[in-house]
Amino acid sequence: MKNKDTNEFEEILEELTLSETVQSMKNYRQHCETSCYEHCYNAAFYCYRICKKLKLDYKSATRAAMLHDLFLYDWRDPNSHKRWHAFRHPRIAYENASRLFKLNQKEKDIILKHMWPTTVIPPRYAESYILTVVDKYCAVKETATYCVKNLEKTKAYKYICIVLSGIVFLKNK
Ligand SMILES: [Fe+2]
Ligand SMILES: [Fe+2]
Repeated sequence: MKNKDTNEFEEILEELTLSETVQSMKNYRQHCETSCYEHCYNAAFYCYRICKKLKLDYKSATRAAMLHDLFLYDWRDPNSHKRWHAFRHPRIAYENASRLFKLNQKEKDIILKHMWPTTVIPPRYAESYILTVVDKYCAVKETATYCVKNLEKTKAYKYICIVLSGIVFLKNK
């Protein structure tokens, strides 16, 4: 990303990332080792780039993506929240976010519908659809990165590498 774009991206997020509550997302894991903060920041980054390229409302998309998982509990701990996290957390995130920041209609829709089609009512805006895709992409990427990192630490991985190197060596002999 060009320096000018990096600065603009950071500027859009400044009001949000200065908030202690938003910073506290660093204390909650979202996917494997990725915190809620990191996950939302990643999603905001992709939304910014895609929406800007498509000449959409990239400011609202970036802000809403940064707040879309502001639910502030550990969803792995069944005692930390009411059941049905996947269905309920968009509303919880929206309520938390709207207590802290003035959100426009588009930002509201983006946050509330980001789990679509889990949330039955479809999004109203192109920017909302973009976050539904970006969110899933980030979840897969964050999980895959963790799995690859951990696979590299296993003995089985080392043996597979040794065997494959042996096969390549014998073939090239
Ligand atoms: Fe979410
Ligand atoms: Fe998410």
